Amino acid sequence: MINTIKPGQLYKLTQYEKLGGEIGVRTLVKHFYEAMHNTPEVKIIRDMHAPNLDEAEDKLYLFLSGWLGGPSLYIEKYGHPRLRARHLPFSIGTKERDQWLHCMDIALNKMTVEKPMHDELMQAFFNTADFMRNQTK
Ligand code: HEM
Repeated sequence: MINTIKPGQLYKLTQYEKLGGEIGVRTLVKHFYEAMHNTPEVKIIRDMHAPNLDEAEDKLYLFLSGWLGGPSLYIEKYGHPRLRARHLPFSIGTKERDQWLHCMDIALNKMTVEKPMHDELMQAFFNTADFMRNQTK
């Protein structure tokens, strides 16, 4: 079914669109991995990743495109993300979760995102990051 907008009907922008579409999401992910690479406080999660972050950056971009309401690029290329299963080889507790969220907070602060959207996104990232936790502490 094709959804059409009727005259006078409000069209609600997706978070993908509000972030600036492809360029916006790519920029967010670039800031995210720069923060991971350059922030000494997140050394534990930096060391979990490969020395070269290009592939991780590309995959997070593809995933977030769909997750934020844009094209489902990750699924088109790799199939179902099985995100929790893919993170099981890594020991993820509250410290690792909070380091990941810290990088995302730094990245979002570099974007022109208004406070309500920043908070909404951080809450959604928290939920997903907490779901990835496989350690109790
Ligand atoms: C909770 C803390 C998290 C940690 C410590 C973590 C860590 C990692 C690591 C080490 C990898 C492998 C990267 C590589 O191949 O070098 C990875 C992959 C990935 N992560 Fe996370 N992650 C976390 C949370 C998240 C969240 C919240 C999301 C999404 C919103 C996410 C999305 C992804 C994606 C899409 C991949 C690529 C999966 C693939 O191999 O296809 N991660 N993560």
